[in-house]
This record gives sequence, structure tokens and C-alpha cells, in this order.
Amino acid sequence: MNLEELQAALAEVPLGGLRFYQQVGSTNDEAASWASDGAADFALVVADEQTAGRGRSGNKWFTPSGAALAFSFILRPTQAQLSNPGRLAGLGALAVSEACEQNGLQPVIKWPNDVLLSGRKLAGVLVESVWLGKELEASIMGVGVNVLAGAVPPANATAYPATSLETELGHPMDRIAVLRQILRSIWRWRGLLGTDEFIRTWEAHLAFRSREVTLTDNQGGALSGTFLGLDADGSARLEANHRIIAVRAGEMSLRLKDDRMS
Ligand code: BTN
Repeated sequence: MNLEELQAALAEVPLGGLRFYQQVGSTNDEAASWASDGAADFALVVADEQTAGRGRSGNKWFTPSGAALAFSFILRPTQAQLSNPGRLAGLGALAVSEACEQNGLQPVIKWPNDVLLSGRKLAGVLVESVWLGKELEASIMGVGVNVLAGAVPPANATAYPATSLETELGHPMDRIAVLRQILRSIWRWRGLLGTDEFIRTWEAHLAFRSREVTLTDNQGGALSGTFLGLDADGSARLEANHRIIAVRAGEMSLRLKDDRMS
């Protein structure tokens, strides 16, 4: 993967700019500093390898050279985003899911934004905010996808079992071709972020609906109940003790109630 290949393959995607790193700490950090330096909306940072890739809840994200897709978008706030901040969490996961479907796979989204294939994690999304005082300057949407088998972290390095597109398809995939599919989908759904269709489609992809699940936060708090689906702001809706409770994504993690994996 190099800048020229990326530029050629992504020529028709209306990017606000493109930066490529053979090796970087975290594309989310590069995107945040580029956003503060005035990067345009929909500017994209891609890396072949991350040495300090970050996941949700303070987890590390494994991004070895030559095998994974790791990229971050700079999204300048639109009215639809400002009115529906929780919906950004679903945007990247929905786009990765659609790319899987285009390749004949059947993904599900573990709320809020882990993409699973065959019950194993294929991809994760980390949305972070860049503030200027009290003003939201930009949202950074970082996406990590295990494209080739070499991107799958060692079993003892993750809380949840992982897989790759190569493992699931039985043949390797071109990382840039996958990136192009994801970007097209992100571009399309971003324009529909404020619609019911967006929430309905995200919800239709969710794993564990109608099942007993446990939501945990990173301070050890836990809530169990029947997973009903999504609220309009992207919160998870649970029925617990005959009450309907909405839980915002934040640092929450969802699992089946009797499953010890997070
Ligand atoms: C998760 O599932 O915990 C989220 C993982 C997000 C990983 C991506 S890889 C590109 C971007 N840069 C990072 O440091 N993290 C995100």
C-alpha cells in the first residue's frame, strides 16, 4: 500500500484530503492534529501499520504492517451530526457491514459498533471529538478492519475472539478495494445520518436483539436486560425489571448475558 495506489483507487471518492503513513502511532491522533491545523471535511488518514493503535475503553488495537486496514476520517460537524451525535457511532460499523455484504458475507453489529463475522470480531470503530473551547471542531472516526489473516491479534491479546476477511472468505482481499467499498458507504450514509432509514438500517444489522444481554461500562458498572434495539439517538434500548431503559454508547460494551467475553 502506498499513497499513489490510494490516490488512484480513491479518485472518485470526494475526499477533503488524503495522508498516508507507512507507520504511525495512531491514525486517530494524526487526524485530530490535522483537524486542528484546518483539514477539510472528509479528509482521510490511512496507515499501513500503527504502533499505538487505540480501541474503545482504553484497549490497544493491533495493526501489523501489510495486513490490516487502519484509517481515520475528519468529519466537520454538519447540522445532522450536531443534532444526532450518537449516530456517528453506527456510521462506520454500518459501512464496514455493507462492504462485507458486497463480498458475500453476513456481518452483524455488536452494539454500538463492533462488526462480527461468524461470532468473531472483524472490525471496530473509535469516534473521538476535537474541541476548540466549547465548540466541536471535528469528529474523528477511526476504523480498523482485519482484512488479511495476519491482522488478527493473538488470542491472548484480545477480550473478544477475532477474525479476518481472508479467514471468512477463504481467500485474500485487496485492502484498498475494501477501503473503497467502505468509503462509498460512509459517504452515502453520512448524507442520510438524520433519517429514520439510517437508524432502521443500523438496527437491522444488530446482533443479539430480543436476547438477554449485559451492558458494562469501564468502571465495572453493569446492567442486564432484554435487548430491544435502538433509540433515535443510537442508544441501546433494554427492558429490565419491566422498565424500558435507554443506554448511550459512550464507553459501554455489550455481551450476551451468560457470555464472559466482553
Ligand atoms: C474498538 O473496537 O475498540 C475500536 C477500534 C478502532 C481502531 C481504529 S484503527 C484506526 C484508528 N486509529 C486508532 O488508533 N484507532 C482506530
